[in-house]
Amino acid sequence: MQLFIDSSNPKEILQAREWGIIDGVTTNPTLISKGGNDMQETLRRVLEASPGPVFCQVIGWRDRERLKSQARWLHRFSERIIVKLPMGAAGIQALIELKKEIPGIRLAVTAVASVAQAYLCGKAGAEVVAIFNGPLELELDQEVNLIAPVKQIFRNYGFPTRVLSAGRYPGSFGKYAVAGTDICTMRFEFLKLLFEHAFTDKRMNGFLADWKSVFGEQVWPET
Ligand code: E4P
Repeated sequence: MQLFIDSSNPKEILQAREWGIIDGVTTNPTLISKGGNDMQETLRRVLEASPGPVFCQVIGWRDRERLKSQARWLHRFSERIIVKLPMGAAGIQALIELKKEIPGIRLAVTAVASVAQAYLCGKAGAEVVAIFNGPLELELDQEVNLIAPVKQIFRNYGFPTRVLSAGRYPGSFGKYAVAGTDICTMRFEFLKLLFEHAFTDKRMNGFLADWKSVFGEQVWPET
């Protein structure tokens, strides 16, 4: 499973990149608007900071032609951009038409919240379907199991579409991974939590206290 950071902040992206754990960056209109009023500069900086692909969403939802023209521009802006089209009839139709028009264009569908929507993305030939399971779980206050059925459907019908999960808590992250999510993306604050567990802290503090009681500040010889 690949791990992406959901961010438009180069500092966060570079920090996660330094940890060595991320494969790329996802953005959305909310995140890009946090980068200030120069959208192109924000996108350029995200691309510079990202170690791999960058998902960038077209603006709008219902106007197919405007979705397509932004997708063309984003595709030309960088070959590392995977264009996110909105879930809906216009987005799916735009995807089918863009694939015919521009061989090699990288297209995802975003804000997917049901198995039926995911099926449509697979059938239309999306490279990636972005399933909003984390945000949906928060909204419904219950676990949402979309990944396993979607992966099964894609296998049943031979759709090569990859599944991206928008993750939130480390617990759900594990479940998405077990179900076979291809990519999990998380905001910086959630990504940091993956490293942590209260029991780990307890044991580490115990080890260090025992060591210090005998050896003080000494450590093994450092070369
Ligand atoms: C993923 O690609 C999305 O950008 C993101 O996870 C959406 O999360 P949100 O609905 O909390 O903004």
